[in-house]
Amino acid sequence: MDTQNFIPKSLKNSIENASHTWLTPSNIALVKYWGKSEPQIPKNASVSFTLSKSHTKTTIDFTRTEKVEIPEFDLFFEGKKKDDFKPKIAKFFERILEYCPYLLEYRLTIHSENSFPHSSGIASSASGMSAIAMCLMSLERSLCDVEISDEFITKKASFLARLGSGSASRSIEGPLVVWGKHEAIEESSDLYGVQFPYKVHSIFENYQDTILLVDKGEKQVSSTVGHNLMHNHPFAKQRFDQANENLERISKYLQNGDINSFISLVESEALSLHAMMLTSNPYFILMKPNTLEIINAIWRYRNVTGSNVCFTLDAGANVHVLYPENEKENVLQFIEEQLSQYCQKNQYICDNVGFGAKKL
Ligand code: PMV
Repeated sequence: MDTQNFIPKSLKNSIENASHTWLTPSNIALVKYWGKSEPQIPKNASVSFTLSKSHTKTTIDFTRTEKVEIPEFDLFFEGKKKDDFKPKIAKFFERILEYCPYLLEYRLTIHSENSFPHSSGIASSASGMSAIAMCLMSLERSLCDVEISDEFITKKASFLARLGSGSASRSIEGPLVVWGKHEAIEESSDLYGVQFPYKVHSIFENYQDTILLVDKGEKQVSSTVGHNLMHNHPFAKQRFDQANENLERISKYLQNGDINSFISLVESEALSLHAMMLTSNPYFILMKPNTLEIINAIWRYRNVTGSNVCFTLDAGANVHVLYPENEKENVLQFIEEQLSQYCQKNQYICDNVGFGAKKL
């Protein structure tokens, strides 16, 4: 499928008002995406667990207007008008205009809220952008005079979400989504995420992710800046090759249940992502002292108990603690007794793998 398929051919344009609400989750990458070319084409393929409880709920009210030059909208976040979030959404709308020309015929009122605490350091762009994409697809479905399939809706929503934030392409479906063309993953594409197409071993069913909130402040370096620093990065090529190799390897582990290899790959991916930040020019550090305290405590606990708990990191200081469902009781006790002291206000979020976007 190429980009032309996402330009709507026949719209009947007869709807005056519409309102759609979607709840879409965040996701956590196991093999990381870090580095892209225009327009939001990843330099390597990535795979993530879709989360369940960390989500964004977005309602868009569409009111038909005279045709305008650029999309017009109001944005409310957690009930309050949020003009400072508007430029990012305006840029997103500009990027997708070719694929959603109906944006010029409606005025949009967007109401959005997150299930996770505001500025908890959890990236909300994946859940936020995917929720908007799903609302637009609901409108598009009703404007189209031919039936469009659920499969097309999912694909195009992921395609649109990607143009808002790359990782958002992986937040439409679940439990495992691959984004980026890779020969080991059938049907994979740089343009949208696809569900991991092979049978996953039962050890990874309902996998748990407890997110330790180490630093809730604004990130000092945005992911946009971070991605850009991969241009001319001395280790860029090695990193993109490594990630693509890791994707092929993790695909095997997910199928055969080799959890030890899964753990070392996932932790190595997290540290490789941060190694790119440490070695870019300018260099930067997003981990905090408590991030390292937690990593060391996880390693000690694993050595002593033989647990299968492991960690991964996003572009921030928070730690995602990943473990099989059958270890839930023990690991939660370990987190409460030993790790929560490293979290701001002892806060953490107990999440697990989920299945993607839901219409409300
Ligand atoms: O989607 P972006 O542009 O915010 O980039 C996200 C990058 C990471 O979260 C660090 C890794 C990933 O694959 O999700």
